[in-house]
Amino acid sequence: MVRMRRLRVNEAMRSMVRETSLNKSDLVYPVFIIEGENIKNPVDSMPGIFQYSIDRFEEELERILDAGIGAILVFGIPAHKDEVGSEAYHDQGVTQRAIRFIKEKAPGLLVIADVCLCEYTSHGHCGLIHGQEILNDETLGLLGKMSVSLAKAGADIIAPSDMMDGRVEFIRNAMDDNGLKNTAVMAYSAKFASGYYSPFRDAAGSAPSFGDRKTYQMDPANGREAVRECETDICEGADIIMVKPALAYLDVVKEVSRRTDYPIAVYNVSGEYSMVKAAVQNGWLDEKRIVMENLTAMKRAGAKIIITYHALDAAGWIGA
Ligand code: PBG
Ligand code: ZN
Repeated sequence: MVRMRRLRVNEAMRSMVRETSLNKSDLVYPVFIIEGENIKNPVDSMPGIFQYSIDRFEEELERILDAGIGAILVFGIPAHKDEVGSEAYHDQGVTQRAIRFIKEKAPGLLVIADVCLCEYTSHGHCGLIHGQEILNDETLGLLGKMSVSLAKAGADIIAPSDMMDGRVEFIRNAMDDNGLKNTAVMAYSAKFASGYYSPFRDAAGSAPSFGDRKTYQMDPANGREAVRECETDICEGADIIMVKPALAYLDVVKEVSRRTDYPIAVYNVSGEYSMVKAAVQNGWLDEKRIVMENLTAMKRAGAKIIITYHALDAAGWIGA
């Protein structure tokens, strides 16, 4: 008889044969920074997550550094929104100022800047609109300007999440032309039109005012197309590719990891976080076990980088 249980007899044996382990350096913590002063707003649908104004962000920054987190993903929430998302590419915009503040206080912390217009547009779509249509090529120039502006503010990595075609190449060229050759691009490559983003849209104030995102984000039914999205972004110059959301799409992560040796990130999105938190608050699940199991599964599927709202807790559980 093959006795599989021989390798499970005790923790020393199990840890010796363990195939996957989580490290703090795998984790990226998303943060929300809002225009204004003295603000610390809880996000109701995401227990434990807050919007901070820049002047209040220092306490959060301390927690991040104390936890040993090495990278954050920054989302800015402007006071002013308009049709063309002007604040997104304004050098004095809230996101640019937040990044400069963070880089000044914590130069060693990797800052990843989300690039998309939806937090900045009055209509909440990720691109320019004409009537009900979300324009592709006309949006690229603004994404390029936004990327250059955020990189100049100090972002180490630019992460376009808009899902316009051709944006990775456009952004890469724009940054190269502006002397930003060493700023990396982490592309939200296989980003699905998912119901799991609803809590985020409360946190970032970015819900579309009409329609949905299905003409630019991917159909959740398509795994083969997800591979093409990743290949396209690699050809266009992405340094890191991303699959998003994580849990319902681990088959996609696995397939992409078979096809490429580029680093793969997954985004363990807001709705995935809120589901776990809600069950934990009801006493139905053990938070530490569930979170560590989920994050380990993402890594087992082939992701190296895990963007997760659980990052601070997970770092504590991983320990020194
Ligand atoms: C902006 C953006 C979204 C998320 C990351 N960047 C929302 C969306 O596309 O509607 C989702 C993150 C999450 O749900 O945690 N384009
Ligand atoms: Zn968007």
